[in-house]
Amino acid sequence: MTGNSSNVVWHHATVNRQRREALNGHKSVLLWFTGLSGAGKSTLAHAVEEELHQRGCRTFVFDGDNVRHGLCGDLSFSIEDRRENIRRIGEMSKLFLEAGVIALTAFISPLREDRQRVRSLVPHGDFIEIYCRCAIGTCESRDVKGLYKKARAGEIKEFTGISSPYEEPRNAEVVVETDTLSLEQSVALVIGQLCERGVIPGGCDV
Ligand code: ADX
Repeated sequence: MTGNSSNVVWHHATVNRQRREALNGHKSVLLWFTGLSGAGKSTLAHAVEEELHQRGCRTFVFDGDNVRHGLCGDLSFSIEDRRENIRRIGEMSKLFLEAGVIALTAFISPLREDRQRVRSLVPHGDFIEIYCRCAIGTCESRDVKGLYKKARAGEIKEFTGISSPYEEPRNAEVVVETDTLSLEQSVALVIGQLCERGVIPGGCDV
């Protein structure tokens, strides 16, 4: 979206991202979890947050189901509204990066182009895409929220994986097979990446 805000001048703070990162003792990054509904994005994002928090990192999780109650409560599940949803979360995450925080987002974010747009919004290397890969059959058999059943019955339109597309990431930094790995193993994969990239100090073992 191009802005309608003219005559607005960006104010440069003296306390910047680098100084906040130095104070925190870790870098800020955006951990972007993507995958089908029921693939375990939120569960994994919160478990990774727990591990990071215990290591003294500053973190925040944006969760699709929560954000859609407030900030994005006006948006539907049309392709256009999903795009706007992801755009807003991208902009919000960018601010959290400036704030020195490790931001974790758990949105289906079904379209490659929309995820790519967020990737390009933040500095190179700060967007870490984590694909929670889970067969739709498994998501559907779990059906934690009962939404697949409703989607199959035609009670929910444009449901991801059934009547709306999901485009798998081609170059995700991390692919987590959430239908075969335990939660602990999945957390270890993500934490391992963060250690390798020098985002967080300390041991890579979880
Ligand atoms: S996204 O496509 O715009 O990224 P988002 O992650 O915010 O989606 O919201 C997905 C959550 O909304 C799902 O986990 C599910 O609980 C709920 N939901 C309700 N309707 C739909 C729908 N038509 N398609 C997918 N998820 C839906």
